[in-house]
Amino acid sequence: MSEVLTEIESVATAATSELAAVQNTEQLEAFRIKYLGTKGKLKDLMSLVGKAAPDQKKVVGQKSNAVKNEITEKFEARKAELSSTTASVSGVDVTEPGVLPEIGHRHVLMKTVDELVELFSRMGFSVASGPEVEDEFHNFIALNIPTNHPARDPLDNYYILPAGEGSPKSPGVTADPTQALLRTQTSTVQIRVMQTQKPPIRVVIPGRVYRPDTHDDTHLSMFHQLEALVVDENVTMIDLKSTILQFVKAYFGEDTKLRLRPSFFPFTEPSAEVDVWFEDRQKWIELGGCGMVHPNVLKAVNIDPEKYSGWAFGFGIERIAMRKYGITNIRQFVENDLRFLRQF
Ligand code: DAH
Repeated sequence: MSEVLTEIESVATAATSELAAVQNTEQLEAFRIKYLGTKGKLKDLMSLVGKAAPDQKKVVGQKSNAVKNEITEKFEARKAELSSTTASVSGVDVTEPGVLPEIGHRHVLMKTVDELVELFSRMGFSVASGPEVEDEFHNFIALNIPTNHPARDPLDNYYILPAGEGSPKSPGVTADPTQALLRTQTSTVQIRVMQTQKPPIRVVIPGRVYRPDTHDDTHLSMFHQLEALVVDENVTMIDLKSTILQFVKAYFGEDTKLRLRPSFFPFTEPSAEVDVWFEDRQKWIELGGCGMVHPNVLKAVNIDPEKYSGWAFGFGIERIAMRKYGITNIRQFVENDLRFLRQF
């Protein structure tokens, strides 16, 4: 065999063994450039044809062509092989069971809000909301809370003052109905609803409220209330009590006992405190206040108290959730401890 043919043979052997050693796409690409590229070794073989003796040209040409085709074919085969096994090469086994992505869920308090809203909507209530940054008119004045009422003490409210104004002017002194503050009760939304809707009104209002309270197991300076307001002709205290009774039985269980204790709120007359008896703890737990909407409140929003009457309540949602889910420390709602949150 001529020297040229031997050389072609040795290129073919080298290419074949190098190709067999290729393990990944990078190595495969390096192989392609070395042998099949425009300046590759197989191209070089063609130039051998020119160097061959005239009677050899044909056989050298045929041989180098055959080698070129053979190597190209083997290259393609190796390429296909590698791409089909890439998955296992990169450590991904598509037949392995997957790892489930962690999916969050609603916070237990928001879950409680949803449950309450759903329950009251089945009793014919719609849902309303209002701003958390309120003014004195909606938080106090329209609710018949006089300037000298302790609830209006600047130290019991988060007043929002213009920049640079150091100490809160006593709102009792300025008596500015537009003075901004964080609402201390969702009763503000009673006013907003009655300013925009005419009776019959039947709404519940879940929302955040703010009070500068010292934190302990049952108090936070931010908490949630569920307010309810019904205004219509001939609405009586019987409607109030039976609606609350229906609610506590539906939410806490059929044998839940209810107690209304006479109380005082400036925006209701008569007023009562709502207690629910908890058998396992053998004690009454206060849910909040309620009463018949005060005529002055109706007048403040231009509803005729001679024609219409109404009732309202405001309950603490944290209390309801704590009772429902057996939570004993209110701080757990805001600590963001996943071990706590995942239980609900
Ligand atoms: N707003 C009262 C509070 O935060 C609770 C309340 C009492 C709301 C009586 C009412 C009501 O609607 O009728 O202490």
